[in-house]
Amino acid sequence: MVTGMANAQDSSANSLYPVIPKALGDPHPEGNDFMRINHMKLMRHDRDETVRLGNRDIEYSIKECVACHVVAGPDALPIAADDNQHFCSACHVYAAVKIDCFQCHNSKPDENIQIRLLGSVPDPEELARYVNEVSE
Ligand code: HEC
Ligand code: HEC
Ligand code: HEC
Repeated sequence: MVTGMANAQDSSANSLYPVIPKALGDPHPEGNDFMRINHMKLMRHDRDETVRLGNRDIEYSIKECVACHVVAGPDALPIAADDNQHFCSACHVYAAVKIDCFQCHNSKPDENIQIRLLGSVPDPEELARYVNEVSE
């Protein structure tokens, strides 16, 4: 019912927390609370060292963040961080946090991961089978 839906939206809009897009894959073993508080520490790198040498101490990949936390736009393709609906931006806009990470890092998943978004249309295995058949 329309009124019911409007109410549901109102209650989430009124809550003191931003609407966080749902992720793909397994949740973090550390839990959501831990990730909310500590995600920035997990990915920290010494900029100069990383750019020159690469930093093997970073255990968390920003590439993987944006893969599992991908959000599809109206065209079913991943949206970038300049869109307020992007996983990272949803919170940061709300909390008035500015990050420069995506000046260098891609805020969308790598090409091969984008196929997962098609999951709602054909399932990736089906798609692979289809592609194999076509290329035979
Ligand atoms: C394997 C997939 C996967 C990867 C990789 C991943 N996440 Fe997550 N993340 C999840 C899932 C699943 C949840 C649970 C919430 C949900 O279902 O949307 C979650 C939750 C979170 C939350 C809490 C969201 C909330 O609702 O409070 C934060 C913050 C977060 N992740 C940040 C990150 C960051 C930063 C990275 C990269 C360092 C990352 N995640 C990598 C799957 C992933
Ligand atoms: C000046 C460019 C630049 C900026 C800005 C930058 N990085 Fe990086 N980052 C790099 C380079 C270069 C590497 C090493 C190559 C690689 O692994 O992509 C790297 C590697 C990483 C890695 C490990 C590799 C991976 O798969 O994710 C993480 C995590 C990371 N950066 C997070 C961040 C975060 C978080 C920010 C913002 C606070 C940030 N970076 C800002 C250039 C940059
Ligand atoms: C659950 C909400 C939430 C999500 C989702 C989220 N962040 Fe954050 N992030 C914050 C908040 C709040 C801060 C500020 C924390 C503080 O100032 O102590 C922050 C701070 C950061 C910082 C440090 C900024 C600084 O100036 O030191 C980085 C880097 C960062 N986030 C990266 C990311 C990336 C990359 C993603 C997406 C993969 C992401 N965050 C997703 C809430 C979130």
